[in-house]
Amino acid sequence: MDGPSGTGKSTVAKRLAERLDAAYLDTGAMYRAVTLAVLRAGVDPADSAEVLRVAESTDLSLATEVGARPTIDGEDVSAEIRGPEVTAHVSAVSAVPKLRERLVALQRRLISEAKAVRGGIVVEGRDIGTVVVPDAALKVYLTASADARAQRRARQDSAAGRANTVDATLADVERRDRLDSSRAVSPLRPAADAVEVDTTDLDIDGVLDRLMDLVEERGLRA
Ligand code: DC
Repeated sequence: MDGPSGTGKSTVAKRLAERLDAAYLDTGAMYRAVTLAVLRAGVDPADSAEVLRVAESTDLSLATEVGARPTIDGEDVSAEIRGPEVTAHVSAVSAVPKLRERLVALQRRLISEAKAVRGGIVVEGRDIGTVVVPDAALKVYLTASADARAQRRARQDSAAGRANTVDATLADVERRDRLDSSRAVSPLRPAADAVEVDTTDLDIDGVLDRLMDLVEERGLRA
């Protein structure tokens, strides 16, 4: 499942994994965890060599299940990786080609282990259908208008106690989309064989119903 932020992707991906009793992997959390390590190391997120050095010396771990908490060097960083500092710098860090290679290799390993153990996995990110799992049984690309996405993000922020306005969030959403879609390596875009679902006028249950239909159509239910 790919798409920009604020499309409801995380909520829907987790709910879908629960409904299917499948494993689940949030690849954005991995880029965020490395970004946190980079910031803590006082390294410039735009310095590819330094970003890679930090990634190589950081032990990143993330279980493939809903509710899994990412750790770096054994420390639970699940709350801190959602903060504004990490959000502001994660696009720069995730544009580093060698870092992507490293994380994609780790993601593929986790995915194949989870498939063997659980029989299936829901994976969310930006390049899952295009790069990480090109032979996925079902590829979904979620979209929504920038306005709708900013409003959802602002609501999430205020629910989590992070101060923000819809205007500032809209500017951030648009900036991140631009960076994620225009980067040279694995830009955000739908795979040729992805099913696009526009969530602007759908609530979470509406999106989930649509996805469950697709799952049934492809005979993916255990
Ligand atoms: O889904 P998210 O907002 O937590 O993702 C954070 C950032 O990580 C996002 O701006 C782009 C990057 N990302 C990526 O480049 N590739 C992925 N597969 C997942 C996330």
